[in-house]
Amino acid sequence: MKILAIETSCDETAAAIVEEKNGVPVIISNVVSSQMKAHTGFGGVVPNLAARLHTENLPIVLEEVTQKQKLKFDAVAVTAGPGLVGCLLVGVAAAKTIAMAGDLPFYAINHLEGHTYSAWLNDEVPELPALVVIVSGKHTDLVLMTRHLRYQHLGRTRDDAAGEAFDKVARLLGLGYPGGPAISELAKHGDPKAFKFPIGLPEKTNLEFSFSGLKAAVAYHVVQQPAHIPEHIKADIAASFEQTVADTICRKTVAALDQHPEVKTVCLVGGVAANNRLRSELEKAVHLHQPSRQFIVAPKQFCTDNAAMVGAAALFHHRFGQPDDWKNVEADPNLGL
Ligand code: KG4
Ligand code: ZN
Repeated sequence: MKILAIETSCDETAAAIVEEKNGVPVIISNVVSSQMKAHTGFGGVVPNLAARLHTENLPIVLEEVTQKQKLKFDAVAVTAGPGLVGCLLVGVAAAKTIAMAGDLPFYAINHLEGHTYSAWLNDEVPELPALVVIVSGKHTDLVLMTRHLRYQHLGRTRDDAAGEAFDKVARLLGLGYPGGPAISELAKHGDPKAFKFPIGLPEKTNLEFSFSGLKAAVAYHVVQQPAHIPEHIKADIAASFEQTVADTICRKTVAALDQHPEVKTVCLVGGVAANNRLRSELEKAVHLHQPSRQFIVAPKQFCTDNAAMVGAAALFHHRFGQPDDWKNVEADPNLGL
């Protein structure tokens, strides 16, 4: 079974063809066309512009991913939500059209499920039950995956998502969009202990996240600086902020593991999982908690939005679930996991 997958939920226009080999997804073709440059000047994603660019880019991306239609596929999958509605509509309409025209099985995939299955685009296969730590631009979720396609939310953010906090702090420091890569680059030259920023909802048993207090604390320190903040202070703020986000995610993950000792694997996925400090700190924390527990982080290129992860999720729907009737599927900006 070869699946053509499409992802257009935010500012990446992406398509991939994946197939299953020995129970794991294998990528045959993968294309990501980022709109990042178009949105940088606005300090964030402009929804209408993003949707329009998807309509321009998707036909080109589909030509590329099928190598001008030489590569064939047996089913179609698409991100149906959550995301920006105008953006989702472009991918969903295209996928429905391809499924209808070719009379192919159709799979509607939740974007967070896509991120989850990016952990399967790895050499090592996650063992279930797994604790999935999803850290993206819009979500910060702790999800217990008891078996394939079964998810139990243990915690989520009450306000900002981790990626949103990176983007907002980057704006405060006068860095471009997206903030995550810019902050982590600057943080390399800073001292992560220079500033003491607060961890949101620090109680030991609380599995919910809050990053708004951290963002406010950074803003408070920034306004106390001269108009042109010296580069070494900016780097210290970036490093201390990044460390606090990593500490927060480690603390909540360990708290979830305390409550769910049956977890065999911790998977770190989503755009913020591309962050080196978070990758290494969470690996340390998980192994300190229990050295034999498996820790899997998605390969960096599959942390930020892509269609290979959507195809991987669809392969598991094909194996353990049912195709969806494309006539009943609508783009849903608030789709829950
Ligand atoms: O998963 P994703 O591509 O899109 C959503 O589903 O939201 O995540 C995008 C987020 C952005 O907020 C971006 O700043 C953040 O991931 N990000 C990073 C890094 N690379 C991307 N955050 C921290 N460090 C990075 N290296
Ligand atoms: Zn995403």
